[in-house]
Amino acid sequence: MKIACIGAGYVGGPTMAMVALKCPEIEVVVVDINEERIKAWNSEKLPIYEPGLFEVVKECRGRNLFFSTDTKKHVGEADIVFVSVNTPTKTHGIGAGRAADLTYWEGAARLIASVSTSSKIVVEKSTVPVKTAEAIGKVLKRNCQDPNVNFEILSNPEFLAEGTAMEDLKHPDRVLIGGADTESGQKAIRTLAEVYAHWIPRERILTANLWSAELAKLTANAFLAQRISSVNAISALCEATGADVSQVAHAIGTDSRIGPKFLNASVGFGGSCFQKDILNLCYVCESVGLKEVADYWLQVVSMNDYQKQRFVERVIGAMFNTVSGKKIAVYGFAFKKDTGDTRETPAIDVCKGLIRDGAKCCIFDPEVKAEQIFRDLSAPKFEWDRPNYSRSQSHMLENVQVQSDPIAAADGAHAICVLTEWDEFKHYDYAALYEKMVKPAFIFDGRNILDHAKLREIGFIVYALGKPLDPFLVKGY
Ligand code: UDX
Ligand code: UDX
Repeated sequence: MKIACIGAGYVGGPTMAMVALKCPEIEVVVVDINEERIKAWNSEKLPIYEPGLFEVVKECRGRNLFFSTDTKKHVGEADIVFVSVNTPTKTHGIGAGRAADLTYWEGAARLIASVSTSSKIVVEKSTVPVKTAEAIGKVLKRNCQDPNVNFEILSNPEFLAEGTAMEDLKHPDRVLIGGADTESGQKAIRTLAEVYAHWIPRERILTANLWSAELAKLTANAFLAQRISSVNAISALCEATGADVSQVAHAIGTDSRIGPKFLNASVGFGGSCFQKDILNLCYVCESVGLKEVADYWLQVVSMNDYQKQRFVERVIGAMFNTVSGKKIAVYGFAFKKDTGDTRETPAIDVCKGLIRDGAKCCIFDPEVKAEQIFRDLSAPKFEWDRPNYSRSQSHMLENVQVQSDPIAAADGAHAICVLTEWDEFKHYDYAALYEKMVKPAFIFDGRNILDHAKLREIGFIVYALGKPLDPFLVKGY
């Protein structure tokens, strides 16, 4: 058997590496239009950082795992084709700001059709709106010259989280495969299930109809994001009333019906999926006339935007209502720890908000490169999900500096804003940093990871999200 995957990104790369590792008799080829990316996959420095990924790639590469730009050849030869290309939010036209742009998906489908001389299973891996499979099916059917070639479309959404992708792939809570209710659809489901059954217990391989599988992915992300927006809403109330959001979260999380995960209040959720999937879900709801349902879910995104804005206002308010000309150190730019990924990171909106008020942001992140930060802070919304984005121009910005050293970033600064929960931030010598900063020196902990009592002892004015306010802040606000 041969498997091809179109799209060597955060989803396609790790997923195919795991398939190759667990199924040594299957040839797995990951293809991409981006030559640089493929070159990197074939080198010692992979294009994405994911713990445990390099070891797996090293073991399989050249054995049964290959990375190539020769899309036609490998897709043509494959029995199963996974598609994991970008599905950006539309920026203009009907559904702008909500609907998914399926240009790249449609392009992939046309390509598959044009090179196919044998029947294939086409697997949706990218997140797509509900009923995409139907549209893709039509494109495939009408564009293939050979009448004997049959395409079966499956939806097999990915639930891996970045930073733990390899663990999630090795021991997933479940694998979901959706297919048509026809005999050939069910056969295709069984074929793909066989692949996963190499390492995943059968009872964890769930099957569903196509639309259910597509919708399950959007719903899973909407539910996860909703928990964060819910706890973030409560964090604002905590600050206003003197409750502590960590105590509230802990208390509710011990209820087994609620559970303890995904209840950390934060400066906002980021990442390539949550916002995009919710917007997608809303668009689908609106298109079938369910405005109330769309409005309900849209609130999850609005609350996330509110939380980022609230954080910015808190910083500016605390610093005597002006940050103009003040240096502010920003610790963390990635959307979460242990990744260099900045897609939809809350740091973008927070930095932009501070810069708009005249602050000079000095950003430090252990993984994210300076050019990426400049690109993100100057690019239009949703631009990051275009295939050429990482190769696009990166412009220096007047009020932004990127430092590779956290001490230099805080030197002469009025405040430190912690925007990513990197572990190393917990262990810095804050007493030494305090000495280098302008007084009063502020710390705004947007992730609640620091030892606030200790920081106050040193002399910092501390804002900890969702916690009783520092008396200095109450007065100043
Ligand atoms: C991707 C999509 O971006 C996301 O919308 C979806 O939900 C899951 O799949 P990810 O793997 O994280 O997620 O994206 P990315 O790292 O951007 O990888 C997509 C890859 O597809 C890129 O390397 C891009 O060059 C490639 N691509 C895109 C093609 O090979 N052909 C195309 O026509 C378009
Ligand atoms: C998410 C889903 O978890 C995954 O199943 C799906 O396939 C893709 O989208 P990912 O984006 O990698 O994965 O990150 P995740 O760990 O879910 O975190 C998303 C965002 O929420 C991050 O910005 C994170 O910092 C934030 N978050 C998470 C919180 O603010 N509080 C929490 O309690 C948990």
